[in-house]
Amino acid sequence: MTAKASSIVVLTGAGISKESGLDTFRDKGGVWSKFSIEEVATPEAFERDPHKVNEFYNARRSQLVQGDIAPNPAHEALVRLEAEWPGEVLVVTQNVDDLHDRAGQKNLIHMHGELLKVRCTGCESVRRWTDPVTTATPCPSCGQPGGLRPSVVWFGEMPFAMNRITAALATCGRFISVGTSGAVYPAAGFVRDAQLAGAHTTELNLELSEGSSYFDERRHGPAAEIVPAYVDELLRRM
Ligand code: APR
Repeated sequence: MTAKASSIVVLTGAGISKESGLDTFRDKGGVWSKFSIEEVATPEAFERDPHKVNEFYNARRSQLVQGDIAPNPAHEALVRLEAEWPGEVLVVTQNVDDLHDRAGQKNLIHMHGELLKVRCTGCESVRRWTDPVTTATPCPSCGQPGGLRPSVVWFGEMPFAMNRITAALATCGRFISVGTSGAVYPAAGFVRDAQLAGAHTTELNLELSEGSSYFDERRHGPAAEIVPAYVDELLRRM
């Protein structure tokens, strides 16, 4: 097996965490049917009304730390893939939850940031954070109040680690997309980047996504069922 053929990039989205009890964004009843992106998920929204933005992220953060949210068999299957596959497995997640981390995924990029981290807009320090944030919360590093923001990527901001992701896509032999609608770029374009690089591409999603037609192979169903089955198949065939 060549290095290229043996490396795998897995892109995950909100659908992989659905069966753990977290809402997706664009499905019926999803997060963006209850909140407006323009009011809670842009840098302009934070400038205009930091209280409202903080409240939105405080609620989602407390669900993660207090709720009975846990990784599901799809997260666990990707950990098994990383442990048993002979080549590199890189999981690039759009999710800001920590379920891949809790499952034990090691080679992991949170391209849209992490809900359990805050960044100070004054001194730029980033740290783990599980409590509510208010406009009066002082930054533990520089002491300035009002500057803490969730360490997530808002609409109009650049995702994290794009150089590393681009390099991995250019050299992977296989690209697998799990539980994402393919509605948000640059992640939605990864399947074509991988294909241009000669990778085999597979979509694992509840239903046809916006980008389904770009994939060489498609399997549809709940992630907690189809991801473990697909990983078993890959490991058997190797
Ligand atoms: N198993 C597999 N897939 C599922 C499941 C499930 N149990 N439930 C839903 N899905 C699929 C849906 O069919 C949909 O295609 O997951 C996808 C979720 O799509 P979105 O809600 O658009 O979430 P995502 O693709 O992760 O969104 C991308 O948009 O708002 C931003 O920053 C946010 O990272 C997010 C980005």
